[in-house]
Amino acid sequence: MPNIVIVGAQWGDEGKGKVVDLLTDKVQVVARYNGGHNAGHTILVGQERFVLHLIPSGILHPGILCVMGNGMVIDPWALEKEIAELRARGVTIGDNLVVSDRAHLILPHHRALEAMTEEMRGDRKIGTTLRGIGPAYEDKAGRRGVRASDLLRPADLPERLAEARRHYELICRGAGRSPDLDWDRLATDLTGFGERLRPRIADASLVLQREMAHGYSVLFEGAQATLLDMDHGTYPYVTSSSAAAGGALTGLGVPPSRIDGVIGIAKAYTTRVGAGPLPSEIGGALEQDIRDRGHEYGASTGRPRRCGWFDAVVVRYSIRVNGFDSVALTKLDVLDHLAEIKVCVAYRCQGETIREMPADLAVLEACEPVYETLPGWSESTGGVRDFGRLPAAARGYVDRLAELVGGEIGIVSTGPERDDTIVRPQSAVGSWFA
Ligand code: IMP
Repeated sequence: MPNIVIVGAQWGDEGKGKVVDLLTDKVQVVARYNGGHNAGHTILVGQERFVLHLIPSGILHPGILCVMGNGMVIDPWALEKEIAELRARGVTIGDNLVVSDRAHLILPHHRALEAMTEEMRGDRKIGTTLRGIGPAYEDKAGRRGVRASDLLRPADLPERLAEARRHYELICRGAGRSPDLDWDRLATDLTGFGERLRPRIADASLVLQREMAHGYSVLFEGAQATLLDMDHGTYPYVTSSSAAAGGALTGLGVPPSRIDGVIGIAKAYTTRVGAGPLPSEIGGALEQDIRDRGHEYGASTGRPRRCGWFDAVVVRYSIRVNGFDSVALTKLDVLDHLAEIKVCVAYRCQGETIREMPADLAVLEACEPVYETLPGWSESTGGVRDFGRLPAAARGYVDRLAELVGGEIGIVSTGPERDDTIVRPQSAVGSWFA
């Protein structure tokens, strides 16, 4: 199979884990390129439910090499916990998991800083996961971060931590807070992580280059999603990493010429966790109904997700930014009971119709959705595996979405199980599955 990037087309939680899991049978390597344990990828294998936060979903498949890229930020406590939990459930984690030596670490002061800055934002909170993601990327950009490779040189750790500590204490003093972290203890803890993680810390770019030179295929797994991307998302209501397809290159040290295709994952409706604009937000009892039917509660934080109608402006924009060869439409079955379904086709703002995603948050916040109403199908699509077997109105819905976003919908997911999936043979992904 070619080397494929999997990217969320909306605001995250589109069901990327399931599509990665499906395609993993066709590849030898799964490599994650961004984010940290803010992500929560839920995968059902038979009766077993796994939620992965840091480790690529490929770990559930024996014989797959999993790579955590330099574009990620890794909380070593969270990583060890996830490894231990997976092992306790019988998942083998040995030399099948590589951590980039250039990945930055999330340390306790990042969580403290994030709690402080979110609190200081008052009613303009981002609604982050409070896992220290943003401050870890800030330290990276500020050139005072600590990387996985630093764990391998424990004698230098106090010096590596000194810059981050100075910056942290400066902010605490400015905010009138007491910086009460035990940095000596931190250096000791990190030394321990270094001893335990040493065998898996490696030059991830080099590992991938060698794998590809052997003819092995790589699945590049993005976390979060395009509208949460630091550059292309609804800034400032975004995460702090490059979640869009371009992040696969910088976040793993892979050249553009090695990427053969991109699959975008979009839900048949829209969800978002945390604050920020969601133009097609449904509101009221119907939103709660969709939230409950779709189990729309955060896999990492348990927070209820905000639910909206499918927003074609968003997915069309995602196709432009990422160049999706094909879109996988997930959770179609959640809409089964509805008599009619709305789709946002454009925005109205100050008397103008907008068809492209505005950069200006004030404009986006003032946008009213323009809806097209499509007939529902009022019958179950749960578990349907053949496009032709979907009710006519469900086929009509999928085809109309494809028309509106200007791209093919090659996969339709009709339930949480691996097999509850339609792969359309004539689509770009159809040949990758064959
Ligand atoms: P952070 O990534 O914790 O800094 O949070 C920034 C924004 O991204 C918040 O709105 C979070 O709710 C959102 N976010 C982060 N990770 C995920 C995810 O995996 N799924 C959905 N939203 C996420």
